[in-house]
Amino acid sequence: MPAKLRSQAWFQGDEYYNFARRAWLRSEGFNKDVFDGKPLIGICNSWSELNNCNAHLRQVAEAVKRGVWAAGGFPLEFPTISLGEMFMKPTTMMFRNLMAMDVEESIRANPIDGVVLLCGCDKTTPAQLMGAASADIPAIVVTGGPMLSGEWRNRELGAGTDGRKLFDLFRTGELSEEHFAEIEGCIARSAGHCTVMGTASTMTSLAEALGMTLPGCAAIPAPDSRRLAIADSSGRRIVDMVAEDLKPSRILTRDAFENAITVMMALGGSTNAVIHLIAIAGRLGIELKLDDFDRLSRRTPYLVNVKPSGEYLMDHFFAAGGVPAVLKELLPLLHSNAAAVNGKTIGENANVAECFNAEVVRPLANPLHNEGGTAILRGNIAPDGAVIKQTAASPHLLQHRGRAVVFETYDEMRARINSDDLPVDETSVLVMKNGGPKGAPGFPEWGHIPMPAKLLKHGVKDIVRISDARMSGTSFGTVVLHVAPESAIGGPLAIVQDGDEISLDVASRRLDLQLSQDEIARRLAAWKPAAPQYDRGYGRLFLEHVEQAHLGCDFDFLRSRRAQ
Ligand code: FES
Repeated sequence: MPAKLRSQAWFQGDEYYNFARRAWLRSEGFNKDVFDGKPLIGICNSWSELNNCNAHLRQVAEAVKRGVWAAGGFPLEFPTISLGEMFMKPTTMMFRNLMAMDVEESIRANPIDGVVLLCGCDKTTPAQLMGAASADIPAIVVTGGPMLSGEWRNRELGAGTDGRKLFDLFRTGELSEEHFAEIEGCIARSAGHCTVMGTASTMTSLAEALGMTLPGCAAIPAPDSRRLAIADSSGRRIVDMVAEDLKPSRILTRDAFENAITVMMALGGSTNAVIHLIAIAGRLGIELKLDDFDRLSRRTPYLVNVKPSGEYLMDHFFAAGGVPAVLKELLPLLHSNAAAVNGKTIGENANVAECFNAEVVRPLANPLHNEGGTAILRGNIAPDGAVIKQTAASPHLLQHRGRAVVFETYDEMRARINSDDLPVDETSVLVMKNGGPKGAPGFPEWGHIPMPAKLLKHGVKDIVRISDARMSGTSFGTVVLHVAPESAIGGPLAIVQDGDEISLDVASRRLDLQLSQDEIARRLAAWKPAAPQYDRGYGRLFLEHVEQAHLGCDFDFLRSRRAQ
């Protein structure tokens, strides 16, 4: 143990409040010898019935407690706000920073020596990591795991990705109402996060790649007994981490973030991970740039054959060896000396891993794609960058020129997208404005603009779509996202008009509006901002302090002031 536990400042001493804190703790029925002198382990739980993905985390917390007790610690569970992707409006992204503040201040304000972070659904993992990184006491992540694969008429379905594809079939009448109703009852079969490589699976895998979980944690299915077993082991381990003073700042180094980016590219992971990794790193004074993502993407092959970029689901990924199998393949590209919460290095952990299915986790020598999943674009529409998931895009559209069909807002897009009068063909480029951090506001997952019904009827499944919004990690298509600066603050996306020609060239990482500089300058000078959508409360705080996509969308005052 360290010479003095942090919690002793609360409980030990002869002041009135030392006595009172012990007495009030005993009101929960604990004998003094149960906690006296022992490390107090907080279990930071994002359980909520309003978040189906995390609905099993109380059971996971019980398993963590068993481990903490067994290792001689004293566990106390506490709640945080939870962010259920399916339910929250306008978008969970609006509340990621609020949850991160809740996590950070709950840890800092309480007599906690070490903390176990329970998370799963998309934003809950980055929010926990951001908060714990800022609080910087020993911390370990236990993810909730993916839900069981959907099963319909002997066909496996991935929540998110297949739901969207089947919904398009339902829209065109290729799937009956009766069949669609059956699918609703069996596409999401258990607690746990979405079972494709969407944002949740990406961020839980990256928590493991960062070294913040025990090896193998991310891919264990939520209902699998091994999920509870690893929760127990994590409870035991955090007690040792307190003794070793193994804090996030010793694990979350620049090398660890470069490892996580490399793994993200090999996973074909969610574009949302770009924003979250930048934000987590910012809490430690590490400046990750979009160019870091592009540099690592260009040298990292895409290996993990899981939807939406690949064919399989998270169950198959788990059976194939999960994140440890990916780390083993990627070892030549990783900083193998980066630390992990189990006290070993990432290299030591990866060396003992095995791959059990080379079709699901491809070897480095036989990748699915020579580059990583996400590419960073720049050009006169996106001076501060934009992203595209190239592995989930249509190859024939990766180099494309077409005329813009512009929607000023999401509501306008919804009102017009299925109209037979929409002036769109298979060469068009759909452009949607006001979907960014301040414009929407909250940076919602509106970027996967639905295919116009008119084109679907003619068998056109994909066209180029551009916005300053995000996209669900479970989505697919030739979709350019996170255009920065966003249109609502006068980024050049704001001045695109119907009929303007736009060129996309992913190989050369360009996205350009084919207009003269003079014309762009003339239109920008005439542009006027809309009135803010909130004048009080959290919405106002968000609008006044959220940063742009290329900076991670944290609040400006929450970033570390330490530069590394
Ligand atoms: Fe929670 Fe997909 S809705 S992970």
